[in-house]
Parts: sequence; C-alpha cells; structure tokens
Amino acid sequence: MKQEIKPATGRLGVLVVGVGGAVATTMITGTLASRKGLAKPIGSIAQLATMRMENNEEKLIKDIVPLADLNDIVFGGWDIFPDNAYEAAMYAEVLKEKDLKGVKEELEAIKPMPAAFDHSWAKRLNGTHIKKAATRWEMVEQLRQDIRDFKAANNCERIAVLWAASTEIYIPLSDEHKSLAALEKAMKEDNKTVISPSMCYAYAAIAEGAPFIMGAPNLCVDTPAMWEFSKKMNVPISGKDFKSGQTLMKTVLAPMFKTRMLGVNGWFSTNILGNRDGEVLDDPDNFKTKEVSKLSVIDTIFEPEKYPDLYGDVYHKVRINYYPPRKDNKEAWDNIDIFGWMGYPMEIKVNFLCRDSILAAPIALDLVLFSDLALRAGMSGIQTWLSFFCKSPMHDFEHQPEHDLFTQWRMVKQTLRNMIGEKEPDYLA
Ligand SMILES: NC(=O)c1ccc[n+]([C@@H]2O[C@H](COP(=O)([O-])OP(=O)(O)OC[C@H]3O[C@@H](n4cnc5c(N)ncnc54)[C@H](O)[C@@H]3O)[C@@H](O)[C@H]2O)c1
Repeated sequence: MKQEIKPATGRLGVLVVGVGGAVATTMITGTLASRKGLAKPIGSIAQLATMRMENNEEKLIKDIVPLADLNDIVFGGWDIFPDNAYEAAMYAEVLKEKDLKGVKEELEAIKPMPAAFDHSWAKRLNGTHIKKAATRWEMVEQLRQDIRDFKAANNCERIAVLWAASTEIYIPLSDEHKSLAALEKAMKEDNKTVISPSMCYAYAAIAEGAPFIMGAPNLCVDTPAMWEFSKKMNVPISGKDFKSGQTLMKTVLAPMFKTRMLGVNGWFSTNILGNRDGEVLDDPDNFKTKEVSKLSVIDTIFEPEKYPDLYGDVYHKVRINYYPPRKDNKEAWDNIDIFGWMGYPMEIKVNFLCRDSILAAPIALDLVLFSDLALRAGMSGIQTWLSFFCKSPMHDFEHQPEHDLFTQWRMVKQTLRNMIGEKEPDYLA
C-alpha cells in the first residue's frame, strides 16, 4: 500500500557533528560544488542510481521519491575546533585547493558551534571550542537550543543531525541504556561513564524531531533506550559506521563465496591510515569500538551454524595502523584463505588503495537524504533499510543484522517501492 509522504518543501538544515572533519568537509564541499555544476555527485545513490519499475521502465531514484533538493540544504554543525569549513577542509587535505575554491565563500560561512565533548571519550583529541555544561543533561539542553536556534536563523523547515565526528571509546550496553527512563535518569544524575557526548547529541536531535544518523561505530543510538525514544518521538534513526572501503569489499566477496558454496578458513585484514581518524583509532579503547564493528560482518553472512563444513572455523583478524605519511589515502590489504572442491586451498589478495573520505562522503549525504525522506514518510525508529550504507547495521534484539550488500540493496529498493505502492518487476519477463 502506498505511503503518505509529505513533500520536501522548504529548507533542510543538515547539522554535522564533527563539521570540521575530513568526511564532513568532503561531503559538504562536494554537495555545494554539485549544486553549482562544478562537480558530479559520484557515489551517491540518491543522486545517480536508477531503479527498474513494475512496467520495466528504468527511473532515477530521485525521480521516484520526493528527496530534498540539494539546493535546499543548509549546512551547519559542531566541532571542538573553531575553524570554519574552508579552513578545516584545507587542514584535512582530502580535496585540492582548486576544488575548494569554487565554493570557498559558502564554506567559510559554515562556522562550527561549540562542541559537546569529554576528553575521556577521545583521549587523543585536545580541542578548545567546547561547551561548558555542568551535567550531561545540561549538555543535552544546550544542544537542543543550538538546533532550535539554527533552524530559526536559517529558516529551515526540517533538520537532520549526522554524526561524522571521531569514534568514541568502547563501552558495553549497560542497564542505563536499556530504557528511556533509565537513560534520562543517568543523564540527569550526570553519569559520565555510561553517557557519552554522542548520546547527548542523539537525544537532543530526537527530542527536536530531527533524524539522527550515526556514522561512527559508537554505541550511541544503538540502545533500547534510544530505540524507544525515537519511536515515541516518531523520528528515524540509523547507523552505525559508514561502510566505505574494506568492509564494502568484504560484504561483496563473502556473499560470493557463500553463493558458490566455497569454504573460507581465514580472513586477515589490515590497513594503514594517517588522518585524524587514524590517530584517534590508535588509542586501543577507541580502536576496540571500530574492531567490534568491523568483525561483526563475516559471521552473519557465512552463517557457520548452517554451513559448518565451509565456515565452521574462520580465523578473522582486523588491524588498523596509524601511519601519518598516508593521511586520508588509506591502503587496505586483505588475505583470504579459501578452499574448494575436495578441500583444496586457494588464496585471494585484495589491495585497495582508497581515499577514505571520498568513499564516505556520498554515503553521508545519502543517509541524510534518505533519513529526511523516512521522516516525511512517517517512518520512525531503526531504519534497517539503510543498512546498505553501514558497516555495523543497527538491529533490535529480535532481528539479525543484514550485511550482504546485495540483500541490503534489495531492502533499499523494496522500501522505496513500498513507499510509492509499486510491485517488483518480473526480471524473467
Ligand atoms: N572516512 C571513512 O571512510 C569512514 C568510514 C566509516 C566511519 N568513519 C567514521 O567517521 C568519523 C569521521 O571520520 P573523519 O575521517 O572525518 O575523522 P576526522 O578526525 O577528520 O573528523 C572528526 C571530527 O570530529 C570532531 N569531533 C570529535 N569529537 C567531537 C565532538 N564530541 N563534538 C563535535 N565534534 C567532535 C573532530 O574535531 C574532527 O574535526 C570517524 O568516527 C570515523 O571512524 C569514517
């Protein structure tokens, strides 16, 4: 049945947590350049992908569902450094100065609001542009005020909040995260060990009716308390951790092995990375959050309990090494030990020389555009259909996450079809 979708009228304010970071400035610059005709939004599903309709016609997704127009987006956000988006993009060194120049004025106008930050959640960072909040609850209130002020000052109809800030230290789910009442109590009691700054941003966004997207692997919105809150407020939430490089490859290769019933007994993944993200992840507590996110992929795709002969004993290891000379140009190696007919072994080596933020930027933009669409379509809580974009897709305790990229892509298309009341085309016709 067709869903009622409110039109994308008016301006959409996109508030980025970590607006001075590599991913954020690359996403913002590319979006501003695209709308000026200076660049193409390569890698963006929302802007470039097509879908086959029931009548076999191929249509652009943006012509099928009412996505916000890039011209209607106003960017803002928070960072622990006061540099404007132009200065921050120059520092990040992802994009060349000639590519920044075309939108220099717009970038310079994006000045971060002081961040909700706690050094103990990212020990490698020392910023100065930070809110003074006596408690976590006060942090939330200040962030809520920021969202309201930005919305009014920029005449926005809707807001979406995107976390593209550093990965926080690993924390397990605790009782304080299990219900909304317990979470609010912990925030009011200023329990700094279980309430991270990212939870304050997420709570503030949801409270203000804005979709929240978690681009890092932080626990943050991935808790029953936040699921409950987002349902109560009718707000979509999504994440976690942009699926940009090595894991993208993994979620394509692993389904291929499984579809062909080839066995795997080892998968070793390592990376060198020299940007600020790599520096933060050099701290073992922060790396642990990323490691958990990266490791979760294989088991759920291989289903070793169903195929013990093929995947019953897979040795999976993931490493990230901070190596400053490479900056944002990450190099990733995968060694995969597979076996075939009669158990004969084979090896596959993947060497991906990627650009981390170039891959992540369109994912961040798509998550914003689709989350805003979901909000207008009346969808709330975890947006499992956006798993396609995430390394560690959010899921409640009753469901398994879906990691297979092709199944995830089907979930995107099926959700969009449901929105407009279309059936799947007959691929054999
Ligand atoms: N680049 C990728 O391919 C990729 C893929 C998946 C996930 N991610 C995640 O996306 C995030 C951003 O990556 P990046 O390469 O842009 O990193 P970055 O270090 O360049 O940017 C992060 C920004 O967040 C700011 N920040 C940190 N804590 C903050 C807080 N509490 N409030 C406001 N700002 C804060 C930092 O000052 C910095 O400007 C990281 O968590 C990273 O793990 C990146």
